Amino acid sequence: MSQNVLAPASGVAAQAARRRTFAVISHPDAGKSTMTEALALHARVIGKAGAVHGKGDRRGVVSDWMAMEQQRGISVTSAALQFSYRDTVINLLDTPGHADFSEDTYRVLTAVDSAVMLLDAAKGLEPQTLKLFEVCRQRGIPVMTFINKWDRPGHDALALLDEIEQRIGLRPTPLTWPVGIAGQFHGVIDRRTGVFIRMQRSPGGADLAIEEEMGADEAAQRYGADWATATEELELLEMTGADHDQATFLAATSTPVLFGAAVANLGVRQLLDLLVELAPPPSARPTAEGADQPVDAEFSGFVFKVQANMNRAHRDQVAFMRICSGRFERGMVVTHAGTGKPFTTKYAQQIFGQGRDTIDEAYPGDVVGLVNATALGIGDTLYAGAPVRYPALPSFPPEHFAVVRTSDTSAFKRFRRGIEQLDAEGVVQVLRSEQRGDQAPVLAAVGPMQFEVATYRLEAEFGVHAQLDHLPYQVAARTDPAGQEILRGVASVEVMTRVRDDALLAMFPDRWRMRFIAGRTPDLRLDVAP
Ligand code: G4P
Repeated sequence: MSQNVLAPASGVAAQAARRRTFAVISHPDAGKSTMTEALALHARVIGKAGAVHGKGDRRGVVSDWMAMEQQRGISVTSAALQFSYRDTVINLLDTPGHADFSEDTYRVLTAVDSAVMLLDAAKGLEPQTLKLFEVCRQRGIPVMTFINKWDRPGHDALALLDEIEQRIGLRPTPLTWPVGIAGQFHGVIDRRTGVFIRMQRSPGGADLAIEEEMGADEAAQRYGADWATATEELELLEMTGADHDQATFLAATSTPVLFGAAVANLGVRQLLDLLVELAPPPSARPTAEGADQPVDAEFSGFVFKVQANMNRAHRDQVAFMRICSGRFERGMVVTHAGTGKPFTTKYAQQIFGQGRDTIDEAYPGDVVGLVNATALGIGDTLYAGAPVRYPALPSFPPEHFAVVRTSDTSAFKRFRRGIEQLDAEGVVQVLRSEQRGDQAPVLAAVGPMQFEVATYRLEAEFGVHAQLDHLPYQVAARTDPAGQEILRGVASVEVMTRVRDDALLAMFPDRWRMRFIAGRTPDLRLDVAP
């Protein structure tokens, strides 16, 4: 199925040029799932790596443990969906919707070339959007803005632009401008052509919107005050020079803005056109050595997500790899940059919820799920030919700590396997503490919801009922063996070993105490970076 669309047309550079890999950043409830479905309606869905999950069962149950997300109405995992639209292959990577999952989200955002910031017109910039935007800013990711729910009463369009400019310092450059709002939302004026596009939801709203171009005179006559307001606002915009500028968009200092209503498919076509026409395709990627790997170099990619048990019938571990350069062909033997060992990609797949589809080839920007890839960890690079290694993915200092135990001694083996799995996926960090021993590892998390996911998965996938005892620490700092000795016996401080990399972490109840102790012990090496 995917092979037709992905068939090599004219070399790797051409294939890369027709790809757009992006994520939607938004606050829960702004309409991300609705938008994903609307995009899928407009485009031809080629495949899903992992799963896209809406609330309720719009997309069907994807795997058993994801039932938790569905109950809670939050998304705790990431996946990719591939569409084709106007000869372009679009990869939409899902970002976890919960504020706790900054670390996971951060990893997804290392794998995209652009982002769509989806705002609820009545709410403007919300906390989770701001956090995610900050990640985009740090990484220099170009951001497009879609102001959603224009079919409902919301803020004034100019006020929303002002909020974007004032609060996040991004210069908004609307590509379309709405005529009317809520029940009186008549359509948008394309600012580049000046053409008014009348938009109506299809009967029932489940189909593509009905669009029709209408002359200014007719529109003025029909829409009276709404038309007059829109044209006045447009004049103001002209005066402030809020025109799209490709260079500043790519430099992530301006953002093209669209208005619409995903639920009625209004403005969604314009978003796809924007992605095709203006969003950046995959480009040369910086390597750990500071060079740039061109997209048409030999194959290379990196793992940005690892997930086990996506489908209980398969019981396996999938490593999601973003391709950075070259042509990926299933079955090719590549090198694992970390170990130098060969890795066979026999089981490269696009994963469709309960079903799977083998993929035969893929290009820069695409996401490939490597099944049964237990040797692969988050951030690992794979390459063919000349060695290349991408920078390690950042991780965040944990701020929540809990001892995890099971009282069911017969389940201990499964308990241990489960803990190893969660560590491998980066769901939590696993620490070993001398005083508690192997039976009671300590879990460290950036946000407390990671603990819920961990215990839920231990139960659902490994049949282990685990209890958590929260520890009274809020800060972990890296130290060395000398530091471990210095801190031995210091009240309310504990040093533990991170299983993943044997790093020594000193845990403190708060920053104030950490600084106090550090100030009194100049020889103590402490580093809060993860
Ligand atoms: P999320 O993934 O960002 O969390 O949001 P989701 O798409 O689930 O949308 C949240 C709610 O907002 C849903 O309503 C959805 O129908 C509604 N919505 C999304 N886009 C639009 C839009 O353009 N206009 C309007 N008016 N509503 C929109 P719900 O009542 O929570 O769920 P449902 O029962 O309608 O699915």
